[in-house]
Amino acid sequence: MPDRKPVVIAIDGPAASGKSSTSQWVAERLGWLHVDSGSLYRALTAAMVRTGRPPETWSGAEIVAQGPRISLRAEKTSFSTLIDGEPADDEIRGGAVTAQVSRVAQVPEVRAWVNARVRQAAESHDVVVDGRDMGTAVFPDAPLKVFLVADSWERARRRLTQRLERGPTDDEIAEETDLIVQRDAKDATQTLQAKDAVLLDTTYLTQAEQVERIVALAHAVSHRPDAT
Ligand code: C5P
Repeated sequence: MPDRKPVVIAIDGPAASGKSSTSQWVAERLGWLHVDSGSLYRALTAAMVRTGRPPETWSGAEIVAQGPRISLRAEKTSFSTLIDGEPADDEIRGGAVTAQVSRVAQVPEVRAWVNARVRQAAESHDVVVDGRDMGTAVFPDAPLKVFLVADSWERARRRLTQRLERGPTDDEIAEETDLIVQRDAKDATQTLQAKDAVLLDTTYLTQAEQVERIVALAHAVSHRPDAT
C-alpha cells in the first residue's frame, strides 16, 4: 500500500473503445492495478442470469442482493472478478450477460453498489479504473482523466479480430458495428465525458501508441506542482 493517498487515473469511453486493454497495459507500465468497473456490472448481471429468471422481472433490490456473492481479488496488475469465490471472467463477457448488462447498469441502486466497490478498491492501491463515468461520478477529483473514442467500424473490427483471432470479413464487421451502435445508444445516459478529461481518438492509433500517450500524460500530471 502506498504511504500517501493512492492515485487514480480514470479512463472512460464507449463500448469496444479499447478502455480495458489500454487500462490494463497502462497499469502494468506504471506498476499499478487495473480496475474494470464494467466487470462488476457484468458480474451482477451474470449472477442474475444464473437464477434463470426472465430479465424483465429483475428488480433493483434483487440485483443488488447478489452483491455479497461478488468480489474483486487483487492479482499482480489487475483485479479478477469472482462470483461465489470462483473466477468468472469468461462467463461475464458472454453474450447472455452482454445482452442484459446495459439494462442492469441503469438501475440507480446498482450504480451506487458498483461505485462503492470501485472506490473501495482504490483506497489501498494506485489504480487505473475504466468505465463510463469514472471521471465524472466516481472519481471527479482524479488528477488524470482520459475519454477514449474510436470510429464504430474500427471498434467492431478490433473486437472481432480479438474474438475470432483472424481478420473479419466486411459483412461480419457490419453486423458487429450494428451491435456496438445499439449498445452505445443503450449506454448513452451513463457514458459521460468529464469537462477536464483528455479526449483521445484512437481510430488511427495502435494499442501501443494509445498506451504511450496515456503513460506520457500520467508522467506529465505527476510532475505538476499541484499533483498529490
Ligand atoms: O465496459 P464493458 O463493456 O464491459 O461494460 C459493460 C456494461 O456495463 C456497459 O455496456 C454499461 O452498460 C455498463 N457500465 C456502466 N458504467 C460503467 C461501466 C460499465 O454503465 N462505469
